Amino acid sequence: MKKIFSGVQPSGDLHLGNYLGAIKNWVSMQSEFDTTFCIVDLHAITVAQEPVELQRRILDVAKAYLALGIDPKKSTIFVQSDVRAHTELCWILNCVAARMGDMEKMTQFKDKSAKGDVERASVGLFDYPVLMAADILLYDTDVVPVGEDQVQHVELARTLARRFNKKFGDTFVIPQPKLTKEGKRIMGLDDPTKKMSKSASSEYNYITLMDTPDVVQKKIRKAVTDSGSEIVYSDEKPALQNLINIYSLFSGDSTENIEKKYIGKGYGDFKNALADVVVNFLVPFQERVKLMSDEDIKKILNKGAMKANEQAEQKIRDVKDRIGLVI
Ligand code: AMP
Ligand code: TRP
Repeated sequence: MKKIFSGVQPSGDLHLGNYLGAIKNWVSMQSEFDTTFCIVDLHAITVAQEPVELQRRILDVAKAYLALGIDPKKSTIFVQSDVRAHTELCWILNCVAARMGDMEKMTQFKDKSAKGDVERASVGLFDYPVLMAADILLYDTDVVPVGEDQVQHVELARTLARRFNKKFGDTFVIPQPKLTKEGKRIMGLDDPTKKMSKSASSEYNYITLMDTPDVVQKKIRKAVTDSGSEIVYSDEKPALQNLINIYSLFSGDSTENIEKKYIGKGYGDFKNALADVVVNFLVPFQERVKLMSDEDIKKILNKGAMKANEQAEQKIRDVKDRIGLVI
């Protein structure tokens, strides 16, 4: 059975981009594949985090996974820092496989550090893609379902795996990224040229999974639209295209059908309907989250960590042996 691995950082409320670009895809893969989903807390600390808030967010992301349909009976769910092999493999890959030349090409680091001061960016932020490669390679992952912004990082994992295998013999499976067609890049509601992101400067950029119906309606009403008034799905209308994609992914309606439904109607009608579709998804989701207790979640995460540890320990032992660290 093919192995699937992916993760989300507990660095803020999840937003529609996280769900439509990644987690929605994970849910549908669970019955067919051997699936592991991680809460990548060590990635979150590459930028400053408030300790108490971080603890809370780790549990919140776990709750969101479950309430979105990740089933602990089918998938392994765990917290990255509970499995030490991730940091261990990261260090080994840093030394024997990753090169400065690879790392300097990483666009996410350039973007993230450009916003702040490069001089003050943590070394961890620079090394983040190698830790992500370790996450993926430890579990013999075949497929990594992510949004488009992570493809370059999965490519790096492929490069590191190939380089290691060439030097030390066949050790790692070469993973492949997997994107969804319409969800791979959900754009900001306030600017269709930038991806929806929790680090955006305006809260009108994103809709979080915990936004109340009022807030969702307000954000969608304020979302930028293109010139004209017809509801058409085209590259020339990127703002509307983004909204139609969101509508389509939540309702299951094809983009053509949505166009047909709104012939003769304007942006106002469409936006009201879009808000309804999103709210109809979010309200029951939020109710499921509220019913979950921290204690139950911790039990699930402990069980997940035990299982992940077993697999990761085997791999790291093999890696250490191959590079001469086992005497
Ligand atoms: P992050 O919030 O950076 O941990 O991202 C978690 C997952 O959500 C990754 O697979 C990202 O590629 C995906 N993702 C984040 N933002 C978006 C977006 N705007 N559109 C599509 N996918 C996204
Ligand atoms: N870097 C990813 C993001 O920000 C999160 C992540 C960490 C990840 N490790 C991973 C995703 C391994 C897939 C596989 O979205």
